[in-house]
Amino acid sequence: DALQQQLDDLQDFQIIAHRGASGHAPEHTWPAYQQARRMGADYLELDLHMSADGELMVIHDDTLDRTTDGSGPVKDHTLAKLKALDAGSWFNESHTDRAEEAYAGAELLTLDEVIDRYGSDVRYYIETKSPERYPELQRALVETLEAEGLVASGSVVIQSFSQDSLEQVHALNADIPLVQLVWYSPAEDGSGLTEWTGVTPDPAEITDADFQAIADYAVGIGPNVVYDGEDVIDAGFVEQAHDNGLLVHPYTINDVDQMQRLLDWGVDGMFTNFPDRLSGLVE
Ligand code: G3P
Ligand code: CA
Repeated sequence: DALQQQLDDLQDFQIIAHRGASGHAPEHTWPAYQQARRMGADYLELDLHMSADGELMVIHDDTLDRTTDGSGPVKDHTLAKLKALDAGSWFNESHTDRAEEAYAGAELLTLDEVIDRYGSDVRYYIETKSPERYPELQRALVETLEAEGLVASGSVVIQSFSQDSLEQVHALNADIPLVQLVWYSPAEDGSGLTEWTGVTPDPAEITDADFQAIADYAVGIGPNVVYDGEDVIDAGFVEQAHDNGLLVHPYTINDVDQMQRLLDWGVDGMFTNFPDRLSGLVE
């Protein structure tokens, strides 16, 4: 069936358009998603927050300040207020070489709007952001996906740094493929690498049991690759994840040499702001 087809397809290399083709157009707007589709992305990556009136909003940051002409927390604004914001002009101002008139005034989007437009024509790689801030987000998300038939059509992966959020999703619908995100950065006491989520220890010390604990609920792991110019994972990490039945989808890879290096390590997909660069390599 379609869900099994999705799992089979995940065994092949996946181009995950990070916030859409967000290197070319303002992240999480129609131009970014349209360009990602044209560039051959397998998945559109969406980050979710909620409006004050409970709408699922596609935006990365907790706050509006960086990517819109509004300010303050997303969750303090109603849908109507959020839809009135300009989520495109900031891009033209900060990337003058890639600016396009059409980007000015681009709207923030709801998950419903994105699904209404693309349905099961695309696949969605949806991140639950700040689940502690939005305790009702998981249920609202799963209900939406089920109502639209997008789980059965094999159209969705759900990712989070929060193991708790992923487990909530699975309690609601155990068919949705999950990916555990991890972030490796140096420990403050200088003892090595650490991470935000409490899911895995230092990759140099990670054991099969650690990977298995993730494989109990997830199909894959999504790590960062570099911190402050230094690699935090290596080919051995990818191999050990594979040996434990986990896919590896590193984020966020925009440099072509870096993409090639990770392809050589055998990763199963990458998050990138430049899907065109990655599709040029994997064709
Ligand atoms: O979801 C993968 C990657 O996007 C995680 O980091 O902060 O860009 O959402 P962030
Ligand atoms: Ca993300």
